[in-house]
Amino acid sequence: MPKMTIVGLTGSLREGSFTRQMMETLPELAPEGMTIDLVGIDHLPFYNADLREDGHGPAVVQEFAAKIANADGLIVGSPEYNRSPPAVIKNAIDWVSVEPGKPLDGKPTLIATQSPGQLGGILSNYHLRQVLSTTGAVFLTGPEVAITRMGDKVSDGRVSDADTRDFLASNLKRLAELIEGHS
Ligand code: FNR
Repeated sequence: MPKMTIVGLTGSLREGSFTRQMMETLPELAPEGMTIDLVGIDHLPFYNADLREDGHGPAVVQEFAAKIANADGLIVGSPEYNRSPPAVIKNAIDWVSVEPGKPLDGKPTLIATQSPGQLGGILSNYHLRQVLSTTGAVFLTGPEVAITRMGDKVSDGRVSDADTRDFLASNLKRLAELIEGHS
């Protein structure tokens, strides 16, 4: 597998977040050659067009967008709030979607949701597909990564359930293949 860099976004800000634990497990499961850089989104202001100048968002947005632009692929990890992605991840996507050069356009993307409940955040997962489709991101179709009962599948800050780890690893491999197909 050639070398590739992936940016990972986490749609939950709380420290003990299951989504964060899932995202922090991914580097252990990545195929050879894949580096996963988990990039924070909590420092981004709420989207406000008045903060844009000369077609750009503020410096923090430009730095954030550049990380995505320079990455070979993207992983959007998210919980589900009221059957939708939390505002914090939608906000990050909204900022990047209007940056010059459209950093998300054509970006191979893996959408991964989780829930401690029985549905794995599947409606958040599909809502993210709806949102990302207008940005031109190219996301993995096929079996959705929507991990159910996440509370039973983590320990010591990592995903510990063997089947879930295998499933996540197989999807990272699928993302690598999508990137290879696009390059
Ligand atoms: C939730 N939760 C939730 N879970 C779910 O499966 N479907 C849902 O629609 C909702 N709605 C919802 C709304 C709000 C405002 C909160 C705070 C929570 C529960 C949610 O899945 C749970 O809190 C997760 O632990 C959140 O993910 P993190 O923070 O652990 O990554």
